[in-house]
Amino acid sequence: MRYQAPKGVSEYFPPRSQSFEWIRETLLTPIRQAGYQLLELPIFEDTELFARGVGASTDVVNKEMYTFEDRGGRSITLRPEGTVGALRSVIEHGLDRGSLPAKFFYSGQFFRAERPQAGRYRQFYSVGIEAIGSDDPALDAEVIAIAYSGFRALGLKAFHLEITSLGDKASRAAHRIDLVKFISALDLDKSTIDRAEINPLRLFDDKRAEIKELMLQAPILLDYLSPESLANFEQVQGFLNTLEIPFRINPRMVRGLDYYTGTTFEFVHEMLGAQSGIGGGGRYDGLMEEIGGRDITGIGFGLGIDRALLAAEAEGVVDTSVFLTDLLVIPMGGDAKSFAMRLARDLRPYNLTVEISFGDRSVKSAMKAADKGGVKYVIVIGDAELSSGLVEIKQMSTGTLTSSTLTSLVETLIETLSATIR
Ligand code: HAM
Repeated sequence: MRYQAPKGVSEYFPPRSQSFEWIRETLLTPIRQAGYQLLELPIFEDTELFARGVGASTDVVNKEMYTFEDRGGRSITLRPEGTVGALRSVIEHGLDRGSLPAKFFYSGQFFRAERPQAGRYRQFYSVGIEAIGSDDPALDAEVIAIAYSGFRALGLKAFHLEITSLGDKASRAAHRIDLVKFISALDLDKSTIDRAEINPLRLFDDKRAEIKELMLQAPILLDYLSPESLANFEQVQGFLNTLEIPFRINPRMVRGLDYYTGTTFEFVHEMLGAQSGIGGGGRYDGLMEEIGGRDITGIGFGLGIDRALLAAEAEGVVDTSVFLTDLLVIPMGGDAKSFAMRLARDLRPYNLTVEISFGDRSVKSAMKAADKGGVKYVIVIGDAELSSGLVEIKQMSTGTLTSSTLTSLVETLIETLSATIR
């Protein structure tokens, strides 16, 4: 029997797993720098939580959840997204009791039983943030700016930011009346009508060409914004301009989750085909309360690591140089091996990556492996070096040799290696 990974999951192994790690760490850096703190969350939650939080009209809840019964007969679902679980944790542990906004990040795998295709997986990876308890429009802009800095730090250029506002309750209520009127005049099948009844905005998200065509005439929420919502949306745009973050207003944007209100946004990459959303998010007034918390607002995003990697590969900007091995030590003989192991132990605390060639390979075969790339410097230590007290440090890219005494080797290497790297 040859086992294979389940259909549609993304899986990363060397060398590409380094690119994956680089994406994740690069996206997390601006998040940490803005003071967000880690939430390490369960992969599964009570099914009811997602059904309530993500929303009954969404594809995610209707068709895509990995739901099963656990041994105690409880209905469990693998998390299809991060926001609802994060808020459950905030409510359960009272994390919204301190100074607000409370700011959290998380990273890991998420599960949606979608039809697999390039950039769309049944298990995918994402990093997300949630800022809870402040309705300051500057916070909306900062959340967007954090995602933007992450994508820019990857070196991505072929992407753009789309934003819209889903307004406050009054705006959505006013729009809903006209939208429902518009939809009820259309000739639609039963299941579409049912969907529209739960959330008429869902029809903007319909993939069928004929529905798309019909919806071109539909009333747009942006035209129904209350004066407060409009002022708020304008302030968010003002802050984005201050930060020199280019954006387009897309009044027809519909995110696949029901909880959004107010500012809503998406980062779209231009070289990925159909699965072009590399990140997105927005505000969610009412969600905390919906799942049993206080009536406070929040805003956050999720960034797709798999898709950001595809985007970075498409743009040719993947940079895994931080993962290069600084030094490979090739020991010849038992005494040399002990010396090599001590040397590695002494150098690694200096943030240097040091590998030892194990298994008593010949110098030739060990050098060949180093030559294939991934190694910056090599030293060979045998009886001759141990008795002369001198060793040569070879820089692989240039072939340059530098001599050092064994007694000053640690200092020499720290100096040589630190100077060439970071
Ligand atoms: P989302 O847009 O559903 O938002 O997912 C976030 C990102 O995850 C997407 O932009 C996309 O890059 C990636 N993604 C989603 N589904 C897949 C898939 N099947 N395969 C590969 N990548 C995928 C959320 O999940 C919200 N929780 C974001 C948020 C946080 N809103 C407020 N706070």
